[in-house]
Amino acid sequence: MSSSARAKRLTFAALAALVLAASLPAAGPAPGPQAPAGLRCEYLDNPVGIDVRQPRFFWVLGHTERGQAQSAYRVLVSADPALAAGDVWDSGKVASARSTQVVFGGGALESGKTYFWKVMFWDKDGQGSPWSEAARFETGLFDRAEWKASWIGGGNQLRKEFSLAGRARRARAYVCGLGYHELRVNGRKAGNHVLDPAWTTYDKRALYVTYDITNSLRQGQNAVAVVLGSGWFKSRALLLQVLVELEDGTKAVWTSDATWKAAPGPILEDSIYNGETYDARFETAGWDRPGFDDKGWAAAEAVKGPAGVLSAQMMPAIQVVDTLVPLKMTNPRPGVYVFDMGQNASGWARLRVKGPRGTDVRLRFAEMLFADGMINQDNLRSARAEDHYILKGDDDETWEPRFTYHGFRYVELTGFPGTPGPDTLRGRVVHSAVRPVGSFAASKDILNRLQRIITWGQKTNLHSIPTDCDQRDERMGWMGDAQGTAEEAMMNFDMAAFYANFVRDIRDVQDDKGQITDTVPHVWGSRPADPAWGAAYPLICWYMYQYYGDRRVLEEQFDGLKKYVEFLRGRAENELLRYSYYGDWVAVDKCPGAVVSSFYYYYDTKILADAARVLGKAQDAAVYDKLAADIRTAFNREFYNPRTGDYADGTQTANTLPLFLGISTEKEGGAWGRLFDNIVYKHDSHLTTGIIGTKYIMELLTRNGASDLAYDIAVQTTYPSWGYMIENGATTLWELWQRREGSSMNSHNHPMFGSVGAWLYKALAGITMAPGSVGYEKLVLQPQMVRDLMHASGTIDTLRGEVGCAWSRTDGSVRVEPVVPVGSEAEVVIPRFNLRHVRVTEGGRAVWENGAFVPGVAGVAAAADKDGAIRVKVGSGRYAFVLEGD
Ligand code: BGC
Repeated sequence: MSSSARAKRLTFAALAALVLAASLPAAGPAPGPQAPAGLRCEYLDNPVGIDVRQPRFFWVLGHTERGQAQSAYRVLVSADPALAAGDVWDSGKVASARSTQVVFGGGALESGKTYFWKVMFWDKDGQGSPWSEAARFETGLFDRAEWKASWIGGGNQLRKEFSLAGRARRARAYVCGLGYHELRVNGRKAGNHVLDPAWTTYDKRALYVTYDITNSLRQGQNAVAVVLGSGWFKSRALLLQVLVELEDGTKAVWTSDATWKAAPGPILEDSIYNGETYDARFETAGWDRPGFDDKGWAAAEAVKGPAGVLSAQMMPAIQVVDTLVPLKMTNPRPGVYVFDMGQNASGWARLRVKGPRGTDVRLRFAEMLFADGMINQDNLRSARAEDHYILKGDDDETWEPRFTYHGFRYVELTGFPGTPGPDTLRGRVVHSAVRPVGSFAASKDILNRLQRIITWGQKTNLHSIPTDCDQRDERMGWMGDAQGTAEEAMMNFDMAAFYANFVRDIRDVQDDKGQITDTVPHVWGSRPADPAWGAAYPLICWYMYQYYGDRRVLEEQFDGLKKYVEFLRGRAENELLRYSYYGDWVAVDKCPGAVVSSFYYYYDTKILADAARVLGKAQDAAVYDKLAADIRTAFNREFYNPRTGDYADGTQTANTLPLFLGISTEKEGGAWGRLFDNIVYKHDSHLTTGIIGTKYIMELLTRNGASDLAYDIAVQTTYPSWGYMIENGATTLWELWQRREGSSMNSHNHPMFGSVGAWLYKALAGITMAPGSVGYEKLVLQPQMVRDLMHASGTIDTLRGEVGCAWSRTDGSVRVEPVVPVGSEAEVVIPRFNLRHVRVTEGGRAVWENGAFVPGVAGVAAAADKDGAIRVKVGSGRYAFVLEGD
């Protein structure tokens, strides 16, 4: 080669290298342990205003290698954002695999202070990660004595001006405004919450909300204004305290007191059930800004606040989460316009209007239409669900209510000046803004539609408590509904902080006798609760432990749970609990109430014994193990009929419940065959269960090797089935299996049949925990590849990071793609069907060949051929396994 040719080639090579370098992705993360991410404190992202003296920390581990884990961690907490040292707490290097529920171990935290924290970890080989980015948490007010404010009322609008000598460095407002409040500072709404604070048993515990208002304040005059709504408190009362720190270090405290001014304002009526009436003619422009002349306003009145303790609201608040554009507008009668939002949801409508002053525009909300296109409010019972906006006559007016919410798909508009257009209304979707954490999809479309109506129904029934429905005159924390949906909710949404609060709500209603109530807070239903409803207390505590590893809930609630079980024991006769109000609620074939109640008596007792074991209370564990064993014996003796092989009347629920919990021994084994026959032959693969039986039956079928049957039920489209709801236009789950309208009980957004959502993840995506494991530490990924289902996938963003399992199959192959977080391990179960000579590869490399495990693939620890499947043990990482055979 001539030198010039060589030079040319060299140039060419150099150029190619340059081009290549330019097109290469930016350098990836340095190999090894990654800085921890997703830092949370008390389950929350940089929480503002927590009143836990020993908050818990959470982080998600990252590593570029498979099969990795944390061997040690170090947490630093400081009041200094630079976090040069852990002057508030330096955990030191702690040898531990724990990356969730790590309890703050420093000294006393101060009230009203911002703390910063960061964390690093060492992997299983002792290599240290970089530090995480700094996260924050802020304390609220720990002691009642720190509140200098007094409760005031006297109008829906309250205001006061305060002057500041300098610029604010830090300002926080602590507000308990009941029933609901909106805080406004210098003309602007503070924060993005609506319908705050959460509904609680106010005389036991009222929640205050902490707002960072630093950026809204200015040197000179400042206006602090609050709009109050009546909410569930059915009255109006405000307690407010602002703590300001100026740049020069001086501090100011502003409080609600008799020097505030009050006026009625434009909200003429606000009621959760009936709606809001807003007369814009009564607006007083500038009332929430400094310099407003409030001489004509009355002095605020001292009012009696609720008797309960004040505690910090530490959960995702209710927010406007989504905005729906109407699918269509119809005009069924002169002057009547009906907007179809295309989705049943909780919230309200935002109105845009222009017209003469004094025009009364009416909005009415409904889930259904009559045949003539008019809205059908029959099933709302006494809830009027009607908002009014009375125009002030401006150029362009936009309005949405503040202190009500409706459950609706359709909005009727009347009294509109002129002809409305597509921009006149928007649907505002309002609920507790819990973070979606799950996804599920499958090749059978009805299952995707089922997932969709479950999640819509679930989230639109989270309004600071889990509600039964969002439209009629209830919206109660019915506990049976709450426990039935809890697992599904935890797979689809981050429910940790929400349920942590709800468990306290339950404790708040407990009386000295240990009794709790059907609804929490208690408005409807009875005290004591139906045992199936009361079971929400132990069950949700236990799910908190199982899914989030929350031992503190068990610690805090153990005494309450014990009191509750002791109460039940006092009501039991010969170890059976016979009282029951609802039994297997809304079943097609009703199961005897005593069976349902005794089942939960056993379940509650078992949970109590298990909780005692977790907490190291050996004596309690022994006592309640013994009680559970006695209940079990009594249950079988009383309800099992050896002649028929059925429990009680042989309904699906009667046989399901004892089988699900292993109450049945071999002697009662006939119940399984009877149940199977009942479903397949008597009911042509349909359920006849109510909300209780439905919660357990699908999982029981899968556990007993009848996933095919469970699948047939899940994709069924004839009555009674979920598919029947979907085929009849449901966009959220119905209350009843029946298609019903009219004034009888028939809500079209009741999440309680959504318990099947947990089965979609557990069975079809195959995401389960190994027995005894908590918080997704040890996984069993065992997808059920049944009938004509060709693929399914699920992901859950757990506290430890993403867990996932996706699979697909063809005639001769099966593909399974698990995702296992750092620090977790999994057994991946790949069915071999009737394939022979199977070979399993991962990324093209053999894992299983010639009937034996082939070591060498990173992260894959072992494999075995057992019960018709190749079971592969893996550590953390993402994998793609392919099984092939002939
Ligand atoms: C509620 C239910 C609740 C039930 C109790 C109904 O009115 O909407 O979901 O669990 O009462 O029987």
